[in-house]
Amino acid sequence: VATLPELARLHTTLEAEPLAQLTRLVAAWGILADLCFADLLLFVPTASDDGKLVVIGQVRPSNSQTLHHDDLIGRVIDESERPLVARAYRTGDIMDGEIAVTSRGGEPARLQCIPVRWDGEVIAVLTREAAITVGRRPGELERSYVGVFERFARMLVSGLFPYPIDEGTAAEAPRVGDGALLLDDAARVSYASPNAVTALHRLGAYSNVEGIRLDEAGVNAGGVDESFASHLPVMVEVERRPDVIVLLRCMPLLDLRDGAEVITGAIVLLRDVTDLRRRDQLLLSKDQAIREVHHRVKNNLQTIGSLLRLQGRRLAPGDGREALEEAERRIRSIALVHEILSRDAGEQVPFNEIVKPLVRMAQEAFTFPGVPVTFEVEGDAGELPATIATPLAVVLTELLQNAVEHAFPQGSPGGQISVRLDNDGERLRVVVADDGPGFPEDFSIGSTRSLGLSIARSLIETQMTGTIQTRNEDGATVELTVPLTDPDRLE
Ligand SMILES: Nc1ncnc2c1ncn2[C@@H]1O[C@H](COP(=O)(O)OP(=O)(O)OP(=O)(O)O)[C@@H](O)[C@H]1O
Ligand SMILES: [Mg+2]
Repeated sequence: VATLPELARLHTTLEAEPLAQLTRLVAAWGILADLCFADLLLFVPTASDDGKLVVIGQVRPSNSQTLHHDDLIGRVIDESERPLVARAYRTGDIMDGEIAVTSRGGEPARLQCIPVRWDGEVIAVLTREAAITVGRRPGELERSYVGVFERFARMLVSGLFPYPIDEGTAAEAPRVGDGALLLDDAARVSYASPNAVTALHRLGAYSNVEGIRLDEAGVNAGGVDESFASHLPVMVEVERRPDVIVLLRCMPLLDLRDGAEVITGAIVLLRDVTDLRRRDQLLLSKDQAIREVHHRVKNNLQTIGSLLRLQGRRLAPGDGREALEEAERRIRSIALVHEILSRDAGEQVPFNEIVKPLVRMAQEAFTFPGVPVTFEVEGDAGELPATIATPLAVVLTELLQNAVEHAFPQGSPGGQISVRLDNDGERLRVVVADDGPGFPEDFSIGSTRSLGLSIARSLIETQMTGTIQTRNEDGATVELTVPLTDPDRLE
């Protein structure tokens, strides 16, 4: 599915600012769909100026049935198919009517067309579309929600919604079904949905909250005050010791009186996120535990190193003493890697400083006696977040170990291993190459069942959304590419 800006560029003449306004609308309108129990579509006239409209947004209610099972985004239709949409666009007034839904065999549906104004001009039309329900009287919850939706609809018409800030669409932001409170112009609760009452109980407010303000019910309602003062939406975490956490999102309901913006009330959505937060904490502590383990391994290895040195000193100079000294050196290099792995996830690390000890470790701990191997490091990896640096250090260790073990095994004449690093700000390229015999002919990293390269590949592809390639080029060459600007990277 194309994104809203892509569709707008393709089909319409929308300028950057009205487009940003519509993007903000679409970021926040899940709540509107839930409040009116209907599908919402966003229409904009096409650039061709021939009476065509394009659907640039569609959202379904999460608390009732959808009318449109098909995806309508990007669909270009003729005005004659939706005359009411065109009328709302031209007149700037809300239009009510009916449409026949073709995908449902012409079944009639209720249609409301709401012009969206920005800077005095109508820039789009939002439609509310739901199957006609017969014979069922709406309950109090339904009536309250639809009443709030109608106030949002008037705000759209007068350009007061979406709010003029980017709210950021946190996945955990509460929705209507999580619990909703309706506040009047003095921030007193005029309606509380059953789930909202439950959330308030969790916060310690057991009395009936209707008719009183949240702070009078004993709930810390700083976010509500802030929203009433600023006329902007506010989302805060409300805590109750020992460990209840409720996300509170206050959206002010605004109106124009004699040209001045006034606040007529607000809708407050509440979501109990206690369990979510507890899980976050567990995950966090798992991460910390792994780092702590690395830290201890490092300490233990250093202790072993010291013991070896002490024992070496007791021996007379000669082969035995040298062997112990060499073992100690190797253990120290391995300890260095564990030291790197115990770093904090939020840290920025100059990666070349990690490469140096890794190469030293490969040289001291992995090479075979009598097989000379020279190492060369070229280029600069720059500063990397520890979330990349740590798995990359593991991968590099595997690759260096492979080069020493498979390219220059015991009895071979030895050779050279080079590490090339290149960071262009957008991606990091790491090439590890040796001049040994190369990978076996039938080797493929995609199908190898051996552990070392499988671990390397899984770290690169899943933790860093990067790629790993192997090829033969006067020996074995492994090339890693890691994007540095990918916002979707798993943390
Ligand atoms: N630099 C290299 N030169 C030649 N062959 C290599 C090189 N690196 C890897 N290989 C080949 O690829 C295979 C897979 O490597 P991988 O690291 O996955 O496993 P391994 O080194 O055999 O065992 P381990 O799991 O202990 O690392 C190796 O067995 C080897 O045949
Ligand atoms: Mg290996």
